[in-house]
Amino acid sequence: MTGEESEKSSYQNQTAKAFTLTSASWFAVATTFGLIAATYLMAPDFVANIEFVHFGRMRPMHINAVLFGFVTPGLLAAAFYYIPRLLRTQLYSQKLGVLTAIFWNATVAAGIVGVSLGYTQGREYAELPWIVDIMVVIVFALVLFNLLMTVTQRMEPILYVSVWYAIAAVVLTACTYCLGNVIWKPDTGALVGIPDAILLWFYGHNIFGLLLTPLALGVAYYVLPIATRSPLYSHTMSLIGFWSLIIVYTHVGTHHLLQVPVPTWLKTISIVDSVAMVIPVMVVLINLWYTVKGKLGEIHADIGAKFIFTGTIYYFFANMQGSMMALPHVQRITHFNNWVVGHAHVGVFGFAGITALGGLYFILPRLTGKPLHSRFLADLQYWLILIGITGFAVVLTTVGLIQGNAWYNGETLYRTLPEIQPYYIARASLGTLIMIGAYLGLYNIIRSLYFNRGAAT
Ligand code: HEM
Ligand code: HEM
Repeated sequence: MTGEESEKSSYQNQTAKAFTLTSASWFAVATTFGLIAATYLMAPDFVANIEFVHFGRMRPMHINAVLFGFVTPGLLAAAFYYIPRLLRTQLYSQKLGVLTAIFWNATVAAGIVGVSLGYTQGREYAELPWIVDIMVVIVFALVLFNLLMTVTQRMEPILYVSVWYAIAAVVLTACTYCLGNVIWKPDTGALVGIPDAILLWFYGHNIFGLLLTPLALGVAYYVLPIATRSPLYSHTMSLIGFWSLIIVYTHVGTHHLLQVPVPTWLKTISIVDSVAMVIPVMVVLINLWYTVKGKLGEIHADIGAKFIFTGTIYYFFANMQGSMMALPHVQRITHFNNWVVGHAHVGVFGFAGITALGGLYFILPRLTGKPLHSRFLADLQYWLILIGITGFAVVLTTVGLIQGNAWYNGETLYRTLPEIQPYYIARASLGTLIMIGAYLGLYNIIRSLYFNRGAAT
């Protein structure tokens, strides 16, 4: 019996498998939505008369599919795999886990169909209708219950940092989702005026900082030492990174509102803490990069680790960009244009999404006890995605600078449109590469999970 086969027989994996399939499927759907939105921006007559897929609906459909369909379930799939192993116990309930995955899919589908039919609460990242908000809270509560019960029945007394990150992400999101979506006001899902904006962006940035970031770091902390067969460089640093993230990231939301009349003290806190984000980010990155130092060969050999290491580099860029974007003088140019969209893709896709894919590829052979259906397809997907996201970063940052400078200098909007058209064509073309990568990945993952004859290619 190989190591992978014996591991498979001693642990049950249905929940991790269900979340893997969920993530890979929504990745394909979400990139299709993204491409439709990008095509509309390139050629505004495209689908202009079909209300269900019009840009105003397609954009929130894309974002919700990406956040709640692809990235979060992908990272949770890995968490459902590594938490029992790190705690040397079984997952509390596989049945509950699979039911949660089914309910999770129903929730995302209900949200997307709802938004496509025009049922939206119209607040960015909090668009989902009230009934779907309740479903989201229920799924997070179910995940939390299953994970916490697993922690209580653990055989391993020490909680490795990945467990801290995963549990914190689920606990904190279950709370901030209720707050940010103002779920106690079902009719509007909003407060009134400036307090609403402050609350919304407290929640909005927590989705990135207290959901995607800790889940992704948990996966990176688990996979990179195993793939390179190296002990973690420093456990102390891993705890400093965790607690500084919790302390600093909770205060940055108002950096989205620097040009809005919110209290100055709140803006100051958000700016100072956005710059201070360098601490949790660099502590984690130094720790991970020192762990894998001199082992790039091993990383290259493991497709999961390859994705995840790439994700850590994008985390570095997201942080460098983000800390600068929070400075009011820089934001005068970068706010309200494609610079921010570029940063959003660097963070949510380049860092969290690519790490999620790495987690899926790392656990897949261990879930099935067989090699991936096709390592070639996984590598091809890696390159399509890497070219796509790097291209996105360059193109959207450039467009942002054109738009930001034009606005700053009082240029009339319509005169900038011909100038940015070629960049929109480039973005849609790069998006096509990413979308092809997503469908190839879906095919490879379905074959690896269900129709795997065990032949390595
Ligand atoms: C780590 C340090 C980071 C800092 C200091 C930071 C800072 C910022 C700032 C200042 C903005 C607002 C820009 C504006 O509206 O003008 C922003 C937007 C955004 N950030 Fe970050 N960021 C960081 C990392 C990340 C990461 C890791 C992610 C994803 C996982 C992310 C996702 C986003 C998204 C999606 C937006 C767009 C929000 C919108 O729709 O307006 N950021 N970030
Ligand atoms: C086929 C690939 C993709 C294309 C063509 C695409 C295109 C787009 C478009 C057109 C927008 C709206 C921008 C605007 O309002 O001006 C957008 C927003 C966004 N996309 Fe994508 N996208 C793709 C893949 C992804 C992936 C894989 C992720 C994350 C894993 C992602 C995350 C986001 C986020 C967070 C936003 C909100 C940006 C903001 O508000 O600043 N996208 N995307």
